[in-house]
Amino acid sequence: KPLVFSGVQPTGNLHLGNYLGAIRKFVALQDNNDCMYCVVDLHALTAQLVHDDMRSQIRSITAAFLAAGIDPVKHIVFNQSQVPQHAELAWIFNCVARMGWMERMTQFKDKAGKDRERASLGLFAYPSLMAADILVYRATHVPVGEDQKQHLELTRDIAMKFNLDFEQQIRPSGFGVDITVGDQPVHAYFPMVEPLIDGPAPRVMSLKDGTKKMSKSDPSDLSRINLMDDAEGIAKKIRKAKTDPDALPSEVDGLKGRPEADNLTGIYAALADKTKTDVLAEFGGQQFSVFKPALIDLAVEVLAPINGEMRRLMDDPGHIDAVLRDGGARARARAEKTMTEIRDIIGFVR
Ligand code: TYM
Repeated sequence: KPLVFSGVQPTGNLHLGNYLGAIRKFVALQDNNDCMYCVVDLHALTAQLVHDDMRSQIRSITAAFLAAGIDPVKHIVFNQSQVPQHAELAWIFNCVARMGWMERMTQFKDKAGKDRERASLGLFAYPSLMAADILVYRATHVPVGEDQKQHLELTRDIAMKFNLDFEQQIRPSGFGVDITVGDQPVHAYFPMVEPLIDGPAPRVMSLKDGTKKMSKSDPSDLSRINLMDDAEGIAKKIRKAKTDPDALPSEVDGLKGRPEADNLTGIYAALADKTKTDVLAEFGGQQFSVFKPALIDLAVEVLAPINGEMRRLMDDPGHIDAVLRDGGARARARAEKTMTEIRDIIGFVR
C-alpha cells in the first residue's frame, strides 16, 4: 500500500483553505493507502517561539482531523514532538541541503520579510524538517495545498542528493531499492515523493480579494471561513464575499480574469466533490444572488457537523491526548526502524 504523509501546523485557527487544500484530501485517501497525519508542533516554533496555548492548539488540530473523519486506529494521527527521529533526520538533511536551495524558498522570503538578519535559523531550516517528516517514514505521497509545492520539490532534491552522495554505502547496506528518476536508474534509499495537489481548490483565495491566498494571518476575519465558525458566521462571510457584477459563466474558460468568481466556483466544487465544469453546468448564467445562497447551504451542510464534532472532542482533552500518545508510539517504532538504517548507511557506530 502506498504510504501517505502530511502535516498541519498548530498555529491559529484552521480555515477553509486548510480543509479543502489538505484535510478533506487526507480523509479521502484513507481507503486505499496507509496514512500518517501529523500535527507539526516543532514547525510551529518557527512562527512564534512562545505560545501560551500550544497544548490547546495541538489538540484543536487533532480534533479537526478526527472530526473531519480521519480514523486514528486504521491510520496514524500524532504530533511531531513525540517522535524525536524527525529532528534527528532534519539535522542530517541540514548537512545535505545547500544554502542556495533554502534561500530560494518563497515561503522563507515572505515570512522573513526585509529584516533577514533577525529571522530565526529554524525558519530558514523549516523545509529541511519538513523533508525529514516525510522521509523518516519513506512516505511516497503527500497531499497538500499549492503553497507547499516548492517545499516538496526541495524534499525531492534532498532525497536525490542523499541517494547519490551515499550511493556507495546504500548498495552494500541492503536497505536500498532500485528506482528510476526520469529515465535514470538509481539505487536509492529515499523514494521520490509525489505531491498530491490537484482538485478544484488547491489554492483557496481570500473572500475579500481573489488574488490573495486565504490565510490564518490575514488581519480581516471576513477574508476566511474558519472551521470553528458557526452557520451564521459562515453565511455572513459568504454574503459579504467580494464578487464582480456579472453572472457566472457556463464554462471554466469564462472564469479567466475573474478571480473571485473562480474562487467561489472552486470552493463550491471542492465542497460538493465535483469539478468546476460540473458546477458551471449547473449555475452558468446565474447571478451571485442565486449562487451565494446555494454556496451557503452547501458550506453549512459540510462544515456544521465538523464544527460540532470538533467542539465535542475538545471537551475531552484526555481522549485527544490518548489518541496522540498511541499514534506517537506507532510512528516512533516506524521512524526508529528507518533511522537505524540511516545511521548504518552514514557509518555511525552503534
Ligand atoms: P500549514 O499548516 O500552513 O497548512 C496546512 C495545509 O493547508 C494547506 N493550505 C491551503 N490549501 C489551499 N488553499 C489555501 N489557502 C491554503 N492554506 C493552507 C497547506 O498547503 C497545507 O497542506 N509546511 C506545512 C506543514 C508541514 C507538512 C509537512 C506538510 C510540515 N511538514 C510534511 C506535508 C508534509 C504547512 O505549513 O502547512
